[in-house]
Amino acid sequence: MAQIIAIANQKGGVGKTTTAVNLAASLAVLKKRVLLVDMDSQGNATMGSGIQKNDLLYSITDVLLGEVPIETAITKSEVGYKVLGANRDLSGVELAIAEQEGREFILRDALGEIEKSFDYIIVDCAPSLSLITVNALAAVQGVMIPMQCEYYALEGLADLTQTIDRIQQALNPELEIIGVLRTMYDARNALTRDVSEELQQYFGKKLYDTVIPRNVRLAEAPAHGLPVIYFEKSSKGAVAYLNLAAEMLKKSKVKKGSKA
Ligand SMILES: Nc1ncnc2c1ncn2[C@@H]1O[C@H](COP(=O)(O)OP(=O)(O)OP(=O)(O)O)[C@@H](O)[C@H]1O
Ligand SMILES: [Mg+2]
Repeated sequence: MAQIIAIANQKGGVGKTTTAVNLAASLAVLKKRVLLVDMDSQGNATMGSGIQKNDLLYSITDVLLGEVPIETAITKSEVGYKVLGANRDLSGVELAIAEQEGREFILRDALGEIEKSFDYIIVDCAPSLSLITVNALAAVQGVMIPMQCEYYALEGLADLTQTIDRIQQALNPELEIIGVLRTMYDARNALTRDVSEELQQYFGKKLYDTVIPRNVRLAEAPAHGLPVIYFEKSSKGAVAYLNLAAEMLKKSKVKKGSKA
């Protein structure tokens, strides 16, 4: 059974897509079978994986509208993992499914059909708490929250954790925050350190030890349709995301051990 993880934060530009793409690539490098699902009509995770969003034969839109089986819509990439892509068509889906019974569970049911083929399914969410994001949160076991260590990061936190609690109660009892990731981290900045400390107090062990530094290679790689590890594998960004994948694997092993 696959571990299914959403990368979510309703705040824009915090590094969700960068994390989704580079975590998917790092897990694939560590020999895991990975599917990346793009749930954002911006299609950045699709493009960042080297797939032209406007040339997709089928996308997540077709899956959510029930027009093709999920297997048909999944595409190969050249960067080690498979992709269920998105483009602007996705922005019309919310309205189309709004009145449908079971509208929150379309992604969950579709992923159920293919999850045996993967070890990890990573779902990149849009910066909103729309029905599309609710579909993502209803389909996953865990949410990873990327955060920039700036003052305003803390402001949206209560909204996000409340939404996660609400979805856990109403739609998905197994949903939990698996980890909070500090992105675009600058250790020289005093505010970064202050916010970081607050995150430590708020999230405790859920805060990943690994931090993702601000690294220009991470910002450049998507323009080449590449995860950073294929763009410059010795860059700080590539090393940080590999460390994150390793930390995640280690944590999930410890957890499995404690349940057994
Ligand atoms: N660690 C980093 N170092 C430098 N630049 C970064 C880093 N992480 C992300 N960026 C850049 O910051 C911008 C926002 O990142 P990204 O697209 O991953 O955020 P997002 O949360 O997915 O945004 P959105 O909310 O629009 O979906 C992008 O231009 C990205 O290349
Ligand atoms: Mg994004």
